[in-house]
Amino acid sequence: FNVPTAQNEPIYSYAPGSPERASLQQQLDAYLSTTLDIPMVIGGEEVRTDHTISIHPPHNIQHTLGHYHQGDETDIYRAIDAAQGAHQKWADLAWEHRASIFLKAADLIAGPYRDKINAATMLGQSKNAFQAEIDAACELVDFLRFNVNYMTQIYADQPASSPGVWNRVEYRPLEGFVFALTPFNFTSIAGNLPSAPAMMGNVVIWKPSKTAVYSAHIIMEVFREAGVPDGVINLVFASGPVAARVIFDHPDFAGIHFTGSTAVFQDIWKTIGNNILKYKTYPRIVGETGGKDFVIAHKSCDARAVATALTRGAFEYQGQKCSAASRAYLPASKWSEIKEHFLGQLKDLTMGDPCDFSHFVNAVIDEASFDKLAGEIKAAQAAPEAEILFGGRCDKTVGYFIEPTVILTTDPLYRTMQEELFGPVLTIYIYDDQKLDETLDLLDKTSIYALTGAVFAQDRYVIEKITRRLANAAGNFYINDKPTGAVVGQQPFGGARGSGTNDKAGSYLNMLRWVSPAPSKKTST
Ligand code: SER
Repeated sequence: FNVPTAQNEPIYSYAPGSPERASLQQQLDAYLSTTLDIPMVIGGEEVRTDHTISIHPPHNIQHTLGHYHQGDETDIYRAIDAAQGAHQKWADLAWEHRASIFLKAADLIAGPYRDKINAATMLGQSKNAFQAEIDAACELVDFLRFNVNYMTQIYADQPASSPGVWNRVEYRPLEGFVFALTPFNFTSIAGNLPSAPAMMGNVVIWKPSKTAVYSAHIIMEVFREAGVPDGVINLVFASGPVAARVIFDHPDFAGIHFTGSTAVFQDIWKTIGNNILKYKTYPRIVGETGGKDFVIAHKSCDARAVATALTRGAFEYQGQKCSAASRAYLPASKWSEIKEHFLGQLKDLTMGDPCDFSHFVNAVIDEASFDKLAGEIKAAQAAPEAEILFGGRCDKTVGYFIEPTVILTTDPLYRTMQEELFGPVLTIYIYDDQKLDETLDLLDKTSIYALTGAVFAQDRYVIEKITRRLANAAGNFYINDKPTGAVVGQQPFGGARGSGTNDKAGSYLNMLRWVSPAPSKKTST
């Protein structure tokens, strides 16, 4: 069948008085008045253990949303057996069936599950309604629908034949299982990492971040309701070392689809390298990791546009997007104008509970993140080469709240200009307008990561010059726009250097990583 051409899912505004807001509020109230019991799902069975871990909203740590059942090595082995048991049947199923299952999952999220997945993301990961909507609802729906389109393009990509010779490529799934290790910061990524390989006929062990189990559970419910067969996607909860010990030691391990920290990804890569002789096949390693994303403005920039990009790019979702603006290089001649707009915007931002539909800034994900950020802010307060231009207050009495914080530094190599903090902290360095070339060299040299970069200039030649000079310092460029918010099907997303394998989430390129193409040549004799 011809699959529908994917369109981006429209974003609801949740305006005051709208039926959408009332319905989402009802779901939030329902979740707040109950305690969910969240099992693993292995081979289609709900698995409960004696070891439960409770879940608290990061913005209200006294409240308990539910608890989940933590597994051990036996559960991971069981999940691998279930996956391997489901492999052949799933691989043999015509792609049309796989497509229709994931299109149904997209329709369920866009429709009856929209409130649930948004409310779970708001409560469990402290996202406000807009941030939840663009992620958990729209981006996840987009991933599913666009990936179905890419899948059909891959299968349709067939070689030429010649008289008496018919050539055909079969795009087989990988031999073995795929491990999806997913982050807390995007519910959409958590849904995409297991579903993309599964769509291509693979079986998956899915371990979500321990801080996003609440929404992962809803995604799993959607997959099951949409008809993903038992054993095809297995949801497990376990500590990283326990899961790693079993998964990376297993002969049937065939690939990892990862989003998370650079350090964890590098450890995984080393483990896979050390175990390489154990595997039947070379595992596919696909990962999106850290970022230290930049904004660079030229003297020809529009100061107000730069300020808006800094406010939104650095502080939406508390800076916990891997794409978030976390360092800025601004020209001395424009600084006072940019500063005036920027400080004007920052003083209007409010911080608090994401569920009351008013706060731009909510809580950071957990205590470890809070403590790290608070420590960096304290260090900047004491450093002679840094000053806190805005914010700096940190309070964890009710939840993990860190005020949007702007550090101004005279040292372009200051630690927060280079280290990923993953929170609402932006560091700014003001450069001499005459020293653009040196600044670009410095920026490139300090780009250990290369995920996103935003370039502000109204001079087209300068835009060309900067984007060429920094070509390897970002996977995604934004010209006169903030560096966050890539839209599936429009800006395929991913980075290189320390930011990952650049296999662009939600793209044709990514889907190709989950197949093992097998050409066959047939002659007339
Ligand atoms: N895709 C997200 C963004 O562009 C980051 O993962 O902001």
